Amino acid sequence: MKMKEIKASTMNVEKFIDEKVRNIRNAVGDGLAVNALSGGVDSCVVTALGHKALGDRLKTYMIDNGIMRENEPARVQAAFKKLGIHVEIIDASKAFFAALKGLTDPEEKREAITQTFYKDVFGKLVVKSKAKYLLQGTILTDVDETVAGIKRQHNVFEQLGIDPQKAFGYKILEPLIELRKDGVRKAGSGLGLPSAMFDRIPFPGPALAARVIGEVTPARIALVRKATTITEAALKDTKAFQYLAILHEDRVTGMRDGKRVFGNQIEIRSWESTDARKARPSRLSFDVLEKIAAKITKEIPEVVSVTYNITTKPTSTIEAI
Ligand code: XMP
Repeated sequence: MKMKEIKASTMNVEKFIDEKVRNIRNAVGDGLAVNALSGGVDSCVVTALGHKALGDRLKTYMIDNGIMRENEPARVQAAFKKLGIHVEIIDASKAFFAALKGLTDPEEKREAITQTFYKDVFGKLVVKSKAKYLLQGTILTDVDETVAGIKRQHNVFEQLGIDPQKAFGYKILEPLIELRKDGVRKAGSGLGLPSAMFDRIPFPGPALAARVIGEVTPARIALVRKATTITEAALKDTKAFQYLAILHEDRVTGMRDGKRVFGNQIEIRSWESTDARKARPSRLSFDVLEKIAAKITKEIPEVVSVTYNITTKPTSTIEAI
């Protein structure tokens, strides 16, 4: 399936926003719509676009799935409050960890998150809210990679031939589907979002579960979350496209307090890219890398080894699962 592409370089931002606002209003009429805000670039932009079109007739939920970055739900809620947009946080972490229990296969993990999100948590909220429309921040790269079979993205039902109305009881609107990341950032800027919000590095729908190889448990998420905080703080002033920390399944022998311990390994990745389709590793200085490793092994006692990925995409992907 070929989707129309609007390139960031030739995009008329005002025209884009006007057209999408009109389309959303036409589709929803005087009904209600809902959307789920993850805090990522795409969902922040779609939330702002939806509220511009519908005001209070768009209800925005933030599902706390327990696998987000440190303090993320409260931080995102506060940022939108400043814009006059109310975001309701729903704590659903128990449901997500229950669904992920025992799973190690990447696609099964993604599927468990998708199903829990749509069927158990958000799907029920949509039904309760009586909204017939769901706004989603799907972008063209999600579609390309899903159709190509590279990865099962979480938000591309229609492209996969699944009718969300039949499967889940609602229609999905995807106003960003002709854009890639750079175009989404332009739209965010045009919508007046604070740059700290739309200029954030991309973050995947399956959240930190995309960075835990093997089983996703509360303890393993807590570990990768700490490593993520350290990595993001250390690299925030670089111009890299995206940077992240991954928790490996394999453990290795290390040393603590003069004793041999069998500890965890964290892999750091930092990417240079424009649209996430191809990427190459950032040429970070060794000083920076050594500081990250020292901080991670000091602040996370379970970790004894830190590595840096030096592979391009392809063959690597940006995330680990
Ligand atoms: P990969 O790992 O496929 O990632 O090279 C490409 C870009 O997409 C992000 N990503 C996702 N975004 N849902 C999303 O919304 C997902 O399931 C997902 N998986 C990866 C990733 O962070 C990178 O920017």
